[in-house]
Amino acid sequence: MYLFDTDPGIDDAVAFLLALGAGAEVAGFCTVAGNVPEPVAAANTAALLAAAGRDLPVHRGAPRPILRELETAQRVHGEDGLGGALPRVPAPEGGPRAVERLLAFTGTLVAIGPLTNVATAVLCDRGWPRRVPRLVVMGGALAAGGNMSAAAEFNFHCDPEAAEIVLAAGFPEVLLVPLDCRRDLSFGPQHRDRLRGMHSPLAALAERLLAGWHGRIAAGGVTIYDAVAWMAASHPDLFTWEDLHVRVDTARGLAYGASIADRRAAAPPPNVRVYAGVDAARYWEGFFASLA
Ligand code: RIB
Ligand code: CA
Repeated sequence: MYLFDTDPGIDDAVAFLLALGAGAEVAGFCTVAGNVPEPVAAANTAALLAAAGRDLPVHRGAPRPILRELETAQRVHGEDGLGGALPRVPAPEGGPRAVERLLAFTGTLVAIGPLTNVATAVLCDRGWPRRVPRLVVMGGALAAGGNMSAAAEFNFHCDPEAAEIVLAAGFPEVLLVPLDCRRDLSFGPQHRDRLRGMHSPLAALAERLLAGWHGRIAAGGVTIYDAVAWMAASHPDLFTWEDLHVRVDTARGLAYGASIADRRAAAPPPNVRVYAGVDAARYWEGFFASLA
């Protein structure tokens, strides 16, 4: 069973389509402020589910990071967060909120937005991480530079304190997918053409979502980071992983939100398994098969 914690966001939405298309058992979606304000993330999740013809629970989460002010990425994902691809629907209300749903969850948690909800759940129940056998996080940047600042990746930059809390929380297995995966997994013109040739409802939806990034795809390609995190969650065997001790800089300086791997012999025990490579051919086969 999978539960998403998410801030859709074009790449979040593509990850949803892959999971739904693959027939994965998805328990629901916890929404968090990040790419867009949280109500917009919730409305976008509902809009995507409606467009995909699915009725799954949406659990409302944190409207802002734990300490710092919210800085969205609407310049990347559009004002509505989905590049204008879908008709607007109201943000769903009612039902268990994100933290309550997280604390009751014991499957694979796929965290593809800022980690505010996940960190809050950890603070509410320090024993909860042990009940979550696998946490997959899209976040951080090790050898790669940052995308929100010179040093920091967006999800960790948006809520650095949350990221530091989560990485130190003692989850039994954390698979970390940082920006470094962009060296291997760029969605380029050839991938767009293959998507165009598929004529399935999910492929058509993915194409509409990615149209907002048409220019970047044509100029050489974009990495659909949250899709990589979903593929890591559902097919970890496609990837190679490096066990490392990683922390997040929470000092309010140039490297605020940066992910720091300790590769010294004297480093503390590993707390994450970091993306180290992928069988790209099998990755893309799984990607397109999910949308067929
Ligand atoms: O840095 C990329 C990450 O930040 C992705 O999850 C994207 O959706 C944004 O949330
Ligand atoms: Ca995201």
